[in-house]
Amino acid sequence: GRDGLAATPPMGWNSWNAFGCDIDEAKIRGVADALVASGMRDAGYRYLVVDDCWFDPRRGPDGQLRAAPDRFPGGIPALVRYVHERGLRFGIYLSPATRTCAQYAGDYPGATGSRGHEVQDAGTIAAWGADYLKYDWCSPSGDLGDLVAGFRLMRDALRATGRPIVYSINANSHQDANPGETHDWSGLANLSRTTQDITAAWHTGLRGAGCLGISDIIEVNAALAARAGPGHWNDPDMLEIGVPGTEGLPGLTPAEARTHLGMWAMMAAPLIAGNDVRSMDAATRDLLTNRDVIAVDQDRLGRQGRRIRGTDVQVWVRPLVEGVAVAVYNRGDATADMAATTAEVGLPPARGYLVRDAWSGRQWTSTGALTAAVGAHDTALLVVRPLP
Ligand code: GLA
Repeated sequence: GRDGLAATPPMGWNSWNAFGCDIDEAKIRGVADALVASGMRDAGYRYLVVDDCWFDPRRGPDGQLRAAPDRFPGGIPALVRYVHERGLRFGIYLSPATRTCAQYAGDYPGATGSRGHEVQDAGTIAAWGADYLKYDWCSPSGDLGDLVAGFRLMRDALRATGRPIVYSINANSHQDANPGETHDWSGLANLSRTTQDITAAWHTGLRGAGCLGISDIIEVNAALAARAGPGHWNDPDMLEIGVPGTEGLPGLTPAEARTHLGMWAMMAAPLIAGNDVRSMDAATRDLLTNRDVIAVDQDRLGRQGRRIRGTDVQVWVRPLVEGVAVAVYNRGDATADMAATTAEVGLPPARGYLVRDAWSGRQWTSTGALTAAVGAHDTALLVVRPLP
């Protein structure tokens, strides 16, 4: 991923978590309008990504992919224009191997995977004006060498189009060995998924076997910090903030939603909203557009934060261009008081420090002590800078 793209983690919105296969062009246009009207675009959420199930189950006579004619009668190029005219960038979904994930899952007909069509499909989406590709491996067969080769073919095909297209890959679906986690993809893509699919829950305990909750995902992604940097980001999957729980799971509490955004920012993760932004409430919008937290995520030093201590109550540090971000992540079920020092979080000696609470915007000065009270499943997020 060292091609000048994604100097900071990509931000945007993706159709999957809210809509699954139930997408059409009216919905996507509505989302584009809502991203603008809600202030999400101006807060940084620029890429509007159409996930699985947008296409006709059958390729055209020339082998070309086409949009599903019933749900996208205007075609993708017109939709891309609509999105671009609103100051957004357009992303789309393809799969290596022979089927997309929904096709492997039996939720969508056809076999429109890009194997053998890499150059053609890259050319198609580039001609349509795509700015971002999510390339999602879903075949249960194939070894690591097959995955690497498949992802490389599309990377090269995208480059050959001459159009800058952010390359987002997922090597993890239906691969029991979790190659997204165990293999380092940083040379190959701008973002790469590190875990199984996320769901709107705190904890599922389904590691290796199903969708994961927020706290499960943080544990996996935390270990992979060394791979992240400008041009390549670990992708712990899209945001579930404002997404209702499914399959009997309760969704996220306000504290858990803060932890989701705050820890994604600490981990320099892509911030791809997954909720129905056309109908989100004010609390969801205010959280997603929190400028202090987004500034941490988008800090140009591009370092993924690391846990420096703790199990139930964890202290994390992310070095910034100026100062550090410190998170106190309360994974436990009781309120906790945390005390740390500026020396412990790697700050140089100074006559004092300016501390800013990213949630409230409250600021104070400290001579070296950092304290926070953190509710169960909540995260305190402090930006700390030496005074000049
Ligand atoms: C996989 C991916 C999801 C989504 C679906 C679409 O499960 O991990 O993010 O793209 O496929 O079918």
